[in-house]
Amino acid sequence: MNESPTFDLAKSLRTTDLGVLARIAWFAGQYVMSIRQAGPLVRPGEQIERPKGPMPNWRSLIQSMLALAADDRELVAQGLLPPMDRSPPNLADVPRLLAKSRAYITDSKKVDARRLNREISDLPDGINPDRYPKYYLRNFHFQTDGYLSDESAALYDWQVETLFTGTAALMRRQGLVPIIRAMAGRDPRTMIMADIACGTGSFLENVADAFPAMAQIGIDLSRPYLKQAQARRPQVRRRLMIEAQAEAIPLADRSVDFASAVYLFHELPQGARERVAAELARIVRPDGLIIIADALQTGDRPDFDGLLDLFPIGFHEPFFESWTKCDVVGMMARNGFKLVETRLAHLTKICAFARCAITGQGS
Ligand SMILES: C[S@@+](CC[C@H](N)C(=O)[O-])C[C@H]1O[C@@H](n2cnc3c(N)ncnc32)[C@H](O)[C@@H]1O
Repeated sequence: MNESPTFDLAKSLRTTDLGVLARIAWFAGQYVMSIRQAGPLVRPGEQIERPKGPMPNWRSLIQSMLALAADDRELVAQGLLPPMDRSPPNLADVPRLLAKSRAYITDSKKVDARRLNREISDLPDGINPDRYPKYYLRNFHFQTDGYLSDESAALYDWQVETLFTGTAALMRRQGLVPIIRAMAGRDPRTMIMADIACGTGSFLENVADAFPAMAQIGIDLSRPYLKQAQARRPQVRRRLMIEAQAEAIPLADRSVDFASAVYLFHELPQGARERVAAELARIVRPDGLIIIADALQTGDRPDFDGLLDLFPIGFHEPFFESWTKCDVVGMMARNGFKLVETRLAHLTKICAFARCAITGQGS
């Protein structure tokens, strides 16, 4: 989105909920605190490639964040998203927020040291490497313990919200829109949703907020992350968490109504992406939907392309560049699925796929 000549920052700020603004300001503060204590992104003298695409300025980033908040509000008004709590945090929340913030800042010193040393295999002792694909055994984002400890699982959501200055939850929940549309006239008690690479369960929580009676399956390779996911929204009665690889989902053919992969594909090599796409297609029922939500790809918002070039320099993301060029629509078409909806939500793209009427290969 190019900066609109009619964009009125003051007016946009006035019309955005206080809770959303407080959230953005808080996580922007976390971001500033962590980069103030951090060293440079690269070692002195180390040559890095400069971003090739255009870089947005702060004003257009703020515009994009406020547009996301406005979009969320509008989607709630249209019944395409469940309401969310938009009130600013109350005093009782303060000790919890400060404790999280302290843990995040303390950990970010370790992340910075790893970034500077380009240390990407600093994983907890006792990991059995045979349980995981090789590409997984690394410190994505240079994060402590990779995905493989309780400490990492406890910090993950906070780190992601900080990286996206408080907009990650707003972006992710737009993955619900195609599901809510598809649910019109259907009974959630008879439906099953599987979130592949569910992480700490944020998207499953979004689904539970919209459809508490829908059965949920969470799949992930990280046992500590699954543990966090299991603890969220305990009122969901029909829920199963399975430690498994997305390339070999232990579910029967055509057994779920919705299958999602949220922020998974940018962390996979292309071969693994292809296998996961085939698995998503395999497990979804004939009238079901696949939701793939992930980072923007090159050209989705041309004025943001430089950010996509920059991201894998500051954060260990060895497969990100290939993600930005991956033909997701072609990949799903090879599995008999066609694109039915695309949404851009700030730095995230959500694609919904339905089975083609004349089924193709692999369907
Ligand atoms: C960037 S996180 C996204 C987590 C979650 N979907 C979210 O929206 O926050 C990536 C997740 O994918 C999981 N993961 C990565 N590769 C996987 C694979 N091949 N099979 C299953 N899970 C995988 C990781 O353990 C991690 O929880």
